[in-house]
Amino acid sequence: MISRSTIDRVMETARIEEVVGDFVTLKKRGSNYIGLCPFHNEKSPSFTVTAHKGIYKCFGCGASGNAVGFLMEHEHLAYPDAIKALAARYNIAVEEDARELTEDRKAELSERDRQYNLHGFAQSYFHLQLTETDEGKAIGLSYFRERGITEESIVKFGLGYSPEAYEAFSGFASTSDFKEAELEASGLSIRTQRGSLIDRFRGRVIFPFYNLSGKVIGFGGRTLKNDKKEAKYLNSPETLLYKKSETLYGLFQAKKAIQKNENCYLVEGYTDVIGLHQVGIENVAASSGTSLTQEQARLLHRFSKKVTVIYDGDYAGIKASLRGINILLENDLQVAVVPLPEGEDPDSYSRKLGASEFKAYLDAQTTDFVRFKVDLLLKDAAGDPIKKSEAIHDLAETVSFISDPITRATYSSSTADMLGLTEQLFIQAVNQHQFARQKRGNSAYREGAEPLPTPTAPTAAPQAPVLNDEPQEADIIRILLQYGDSALTEEQGVLEFVVEMLDEIEWDGPIYEKIFRAFEKAWKEEQLFPDRNLFFNHDDKDLAHTALHLYAHEYQLSANWEARHEILTPTKEIKLHAEVTSAVTRLNLKKVVGMMRACENKMKEADLTVEAQEALLTEYMGLKEIHRSLASALGTSISH
Ligand code: CTP
Ligand code: MN
Repeated sequence: MISRSTIDRVMETARIEEVVGDFVTLKKRGSNYIGLCPFHNEKSPSFTVTAHKGIYKCFGCGASGNAVGFLMEHEHLAYPDAIKALAARYNIAVEEDARELTEDRKAELSERDRQYNLHGFAQSYFHLQLTETDEGKAIGLSYFRERGITEESIVKFGLGYSPEAYEAFSGFASTSDFKEAELEASGLSIRTQRGSLIDRFRGRVIFPFYNLSGKVIGFGGRTLKNDKKEAKYLNSPETLLYKKSETLYGLFQAKKAIQKNENCYLVEGYTDVIGLHQVGIENVAASSGTSLTQEQARLLHRFSKKVTVIYDGDYAGIKASLRGINILLENDLQVAVVPLPEGEDPDSYSRKLGASEFKAYLDAQTTDFVRFKVDLLLKDAAGDPIKKSEAIHDLAETVSFISDPITRATYSSSTADMLGLTEQLFIQAVNQHQFARQKRGNSAYREGAEPLPTPTAPTAAPQAPVLNDEPQEADIIRILLQYGDSALTEEQGVLEFVVEMLDEIEWDGPIYEKIFRAFEKAWKEEQLFPDRNLFFNHDDKDLAHTALHLYAHEYQLSANWEARHEILTPTKEIKLHAEVTSAVTRLNLKKVVGMMRACENKMKEADLTVEAQEALLTEYMGLKEIHRSLASALGTSISH
C-alpha cells in the first residue's frame, strides 16, 4: 500500500497540464488549456484542462478527472500504478505503508490530533480575552480599532489578545487537561530555567495561522509596546503542525476568491492581508516578511496560475526582493507586480484610497514582472556599462527560471528587444544560467522536481520516469493481426504502412516486438502478409496466447464511431484508415515522449560540456517539435 503522505505529496506536486501535456498538445486559452481529446476523435478541440483546479474535462465526450484519473484512463493503469507513475515523473520517493500502523505512528497521530485541539483551544482563549475581558478590550481591542480593523475582520481572522500575566494561558490550559509537555511542544508555553511554564505570547495581539482546512496551526503575536528591544512580531516556532516555509498567511480565507479571480495578490504582512479584505479584495496571501520558498510557490500554484505581488513603496525593499520572485516563475506562475507609492504599504494605502480607488490603482499599475524588472534595472544602470551587463545577466537568470519552454522563448525575445540585444545573444545567456543551475543539481528544470530525498541520490542521475508504452504497442499488433492484409489506400496496404512508420522504434513489450519483427520480415523479404496461424500456433506459448487474444479482441472505439464523428455511414475503409493512422501516431507519440524524458535526464547529468548541453537542448527542441506535429496529426488523421 502506498503511504497516505506519498499520495498527498504526489497530488500536491503533480500538475495536470504537464501530465496531460505528455500525451496531448495543449494550447493556452484564457486561463485554461485546450487540446484535442485523446479519448475520442475530434477535429476541433473540446478537451479542456483547468490547471488551477487540477482537472481535465472533454466537452465532446464527457471524459473528466484529475491527473491520476487521466493516467488511469489513458494508460490503462490501476490507481496505485498511476500514483507511482506520477511519483516517478516528479521524482517523489514512494513510501509504502505497513498494513498496521506502528505504535509510534499511532502515538504521533494522536499527538497531532491533540495539538490541533490545543491550538483550537488557544485560539478561542485569545479571542475571548480580546472580546470579553477588561484588559483585552482596553489594550487589544482598542489597538485594532485604532488601526481600522473591523469587528468582522476580527471574527473572520480569529484575532485575539494574550494577557500580560506570565502564566495566563499556560495556567489555564493546564487546568483544562492539557499536559505540560504538550504545551511546550506547541510553542505556546516556554519552560523557564527554574522549571516552570510561562506564556510565549504576553501582552500581544494575536493572529492565528490556519491550514487549508481551517484548523489553527500556529500564531503570530504583535507587540503593542514601543520598546525597540522587543521584536514587533513573535511567531510560533516550528512544531508538529506549523512549518513556516509551507504556510502562507491568509490562504485559507483567500482560497475561494483566488480560484474565482484566477489571481492571488501577494503582500508582506498580516495587516496587509486584513486591510485588503476590508476593501473587498479577498484573493490575497502574505509571505510573512521573508522570501518565498518552493513549498509556498507550489502551494500558490495549486490555486492560481497568476500571482500579483504588491510591493511596499520602498525602492531598496523592492530591489532586495526581486530575486525572490524567480521562485514563482520557476513554479510556473505568471507574475505581475504593482508598486505602491513611497512610504505606503497595502494596508495603509488601501485605507487611504478606499475600496474603489484602491482597486482602480491596482488595475492601472499592474505590470508584468519581467517588464517591470527590465525597466527598474535599466534605470539603475543608465550610463554604466558594467551595471548594464550585470542587469542583462540578472534578467537572463530570471527568464531562465520560466519553466514552460514556449513562454521562456517568448520572454527571451521580448526582453532582448527591451535590452537592445539580439535575441540569439540573450537566449545564450538564458541557457547558460539554466545549465549552470542544472549542474549545481538544484534545478527544477521542467517539473519543479526536487532532488531525490535519499542521501545517496544527488550524484546519480534520476531514473527516467518511463510510462510503459505496451498498451499502444498492443494496439498496433492487434491492427496488424486483424487488418494487416487489408488495403489502406489505393496504393498501400496496412502492413506496409505500419512497417514503414514504425521500423525505428524501440519496443517495450518483448512479445509485441517479436510479432512485429515477424511481420516486418515477411513484408520486407517477401512482400507478403504472413499466415496468422504461424502466430497462433507458435512454440512460445505466451506469444501464441497474446496473438490469439489480440486478434479476437473487439475494438471498442468502433462501436459508436458514427456518433462520434458525425458521419452517418462511414465506409469500412474510412474507419480503418482512421484507426490505423491514429494508432501508429499514438505509439510514435509515446516513443517521442520517452526520448524527451531521456534527453531531459541527460541534461541533468553533472559533468556535461557546454557544447554537449547545447546539443542536448537542440535535440530536445527537435523532439518537442516532432511531438507537436504528431499530436496535431492525431487530431487531423481522423478528419476526412
Ligand atoms: N514579521 C515577522 N517578524 C518580525 C517582523 C515582521 O514575522 N519581527 C512578518 C510579519 O508577518 C509581518 C510582516 O513580516 O506582518 C511584515 O512586517 P511589517 O511590515 O514590519 O509588519 P506589518 O504587517 O506592516 O505590521 P504593522 O503594520 O502592524 O507594523
Ligand atoms: Mn504595516
